[in-house]
Order: sequence, then C-alpha cells, then structure tokens
Amino acid sequence: MARRSKLVLLVLIVALATAGCAANAPQDSLDPAGPFAKMLDNLFMPVVWVAVAVFILVEGAIVYFVVRYRRRAEDDDDELPVQLHGSTKLEIAWTILPALVLGLVAVFTIPVVFDLNAKPAGALEVSVTGQKFWWGYTYGAQPAFGIEEGGIVTANELHIPAGQPVYLTLTSPDVIHSFWTPRLNGKRDVVPGRTHTWSIQAYEPGVYSGQCAEFCGTAHANMRLKVVAHDQGGWDDWVRQMQQPPIQPLGGPAAQGFELFTQKGCAGCHRVEGAFEAVAAESPPAPDLTHLFSRDCFAGCIYDLNDRNELEAWLRNPQRKAGSLMVLGGPLTEEEIDNLSAYLETLE
Ligand code: CUA
Repeated sequence: MARRSKLVLLVLIVALATAGCAANAPQDSLDPAGPFAKMLDNLFMPVVWVAVAVFILVEGAIVYFVVRYRRRAEDDDDELPVQLHGSTKLEIAWTILPALVLGLVAVFTIPVVFDLNAKPAGALEVSVTGQKFWWGYTYGAQPAFGIEEGGIVTANELHIPAGQPVYLTLTSPDVIHSFWTPRLNGKRDVVPGRTHTWSIQAYEPGVYSGQCAEFCGTAHANMRLKVVAHDQGGWDDWVRQMQQPPIQPLGGPAAQGFELFTQKGCAGCHRVEGAFEAVAAESPPAPDLTHLFSRDCFAGCIYDLNDRNELEAWLRNPQRKAGSLMVLGGPLTEEEIDNLSAYLETLE
C-alpha cells in the first residue's frame, strides 16, 4: 500500500474512533442510571460480544481466503480454478450455527422483555400524553407519594422520586410519538388509539434528558423532555408546590399581564388552575401553565425558562419553533410582552 493511502486510512480510522466519544453525553444509553436501563445494558453488552465474535470469525475467514487464494504471478491466466457446487455439510452448518446463536440470545432476551413490561410494585403512576410537540404529564391522587385529590398536571418536565419505580401510561391523540429517556429505559412508542405502559427509575437524584424518538411532524426534533429525579425532601417540596393554587396578581405589570391572558387569547388554550379553566373546545392541546415557573424549560423543553429573553422571544413569535401550534390573537407590543412575562413569572 502506498504511503499516502496508508495515511488516509489511518486518519479515517482515528476520525471514526474519536467520533464515538463525547465528554458530555446526557443521553448515553450505554451509561444506565436506573434498574430498567441497567437490565437493557446487561442484555446488550453480552450480545455485543457475541456479535464481535461472529464479526471476527466471518471477516477473518474472508481476509484469510482473499490472501490465501489470491492470484499469483506464476498462475496460468487461461486456466479456470476448480469449480465447486454445493456442500451439504457446510450449508447445514451455516444454517444451524446462526440459529443456535440467535436461539441463545432469545433465551436471555425474552425474560427481560417480560420483566420490562411488568408493573413494578409500589410504583408512582403517571399518565403521559404525547402532543404536537411536547409531553404532558398527569399524576392522579396517590397518598403514598403525597399527592392528594385533584392530582398534578404539568408538561415537558417529568418529576419523579429517585430510587422508586415510576409506571407510565402513555397515549397520543393524533400521531405516533416515542417516549425515550436513554439513561432510564429504552424507547416506548406511543400509538394513537392504543394505551402503552412503560417503567422508568433513577438510582440517584438528577436531571435525565430525553426526547421523542419517532418522527411525528415538523417539530419532532424539538420535542424534548427532562426527567427530574428528586431526593425525598425535594420530592415532598415539589409535590407541595404543585398542589398550591397560584395567587392572582393584584397590581403592577403582572396584573396587567393577567388581563392580557384573556384579551390576547392565551386563555383559549392554556389552563391556569383557579384562574383560566375554560379552554376552548377547538383549541389545540396546550401545556397547563398553572406552575409554569416550577419548570426550567418550555416549548418542548428546547428553550430555557430561566432566561427572560427566551420567553419574550417566544411571545414575540411562537413560530420561532417550526411546527409550533401556538397562535397569538394578533401581534403583541413590547409592553404587552413585558406584562405577560411578568404574569407568567408569578405562576410558580
Ligand atoms: Cu413526537 Cu417525534
């Protein structure tokens, strides 16, 4: 091989090898952070090694035969090599061997499939709805987790207690989505007209990012999510906060924003507990804003809610996220944007 092609080959190999490395990879399914993801990892790694063994055997045989039976200078160009047709022994062998390998993989896979689909005992239960293009979460009353009558409704960020199983019931009203938090479990497709279930659990408190993993429309790539796992104290605080109805602002920009919420049509689609409950029947599904500022992200979890500029840019033009179904009742002035932002910030 010429020196130059050797160099090109080396660069290619190094590029491929390093492309697989990332210092900050929050969605690394090879870095499980809970028991369900760990079950998948325990299955995945042995199967990878089986695949590596098969790869080495097959590729090794190919390379060996290419070298061993290459055309040599002393070969007679006109002479045909020995022609062989069929070998019953070989054909039986290469039919039975892969079947055995796949059978062995199945023996270990099937119990995991059933285990992953079982409902874990003592789990927190959450209903998950895939919307265009964000995830909605509803927690029914569950005294064991401090959730009282009336439950909790939120969006984009799924809050869970660390160290405890969470059993999700997933639905979608219109298109197929797929719920995926790689470090907590594999993907679960959410098909309209069907009810799916799936479990997640985090060993430790932390934030685990995820995303929709099924092409669902224009904003599919921007349909992200976060799972926030709390320690016991953090969970109790979150549940308590989520069960406090917001206080209506009585003066200042926030009070003016409160008025605008109806005037500009926000209340036609977004619910705020105790203030704006009557969402229009023809409204596209929109996130519940009752405790908007208990979250860090909005609009499919692609914008930072802690950055006021992001929220204002959104109110200026909700179409900045392609495929957004949010429509304003006319353009807002900068003052109206300030007032609406001030009101939204009271929804903690
Ligand atoms: Cu929802 Cu892709």
